[in-house]
Amino acid sequence: MMIWNDGLATRNLIIDKEHKELIEFLNIIDELTPNQKSLTYSLEIIRSLYRLTAQHFSHEELLMREFNYNNEQRHLGEYRVMLENFQNLINDFDRIGIGVIAAFFEQWLSGHLLREDMPLARFIQRNQKLAHDAPARPENRRKS
Ligand SMILES: [Fe+2]
Repeated sequence: MMIWNDGLATRNLIIDKEHKELIEFLNIIDELTPNQKSLTYSLEIIRSLYRLTAQHFSHEELLMREFNYNNEQRHLGEYRVMLENFQNLINDFDRIGIGVIAAFFEQWLSGHLLREDMPLARFIQRNQKLAHDAPARPENRRKS
């Protein structure tokens, strides 16, 4: 069970909203009964979590592009590896069970929130502030 708290907030509305959704999903999985956990139903839940994660990555990728984030390539490489590992575990669902997959996801998510997205969100805030402070200078303005 993972609980959202202010220490996890990046203060970027889109990123925080999606992180909360990922945590909610994780908690739905935690609350499944042992019977439900073995069913195709829980495989569907984990597949939806995969899709939501991939979508979240593409939104973060757009933000990185929009703000010319300097760590973009490293981030995207890590996202690809994460999705690959996630998919491999899903393929192995029958053997390892949903608990192992959820534990993998939870561990990844806490690292992602604190190590990857905090610096990204700080970077975006600095650039938004620049654009706000100096609206007359076109080079400081957000790309549309
Ligand atoms: Fe994120």
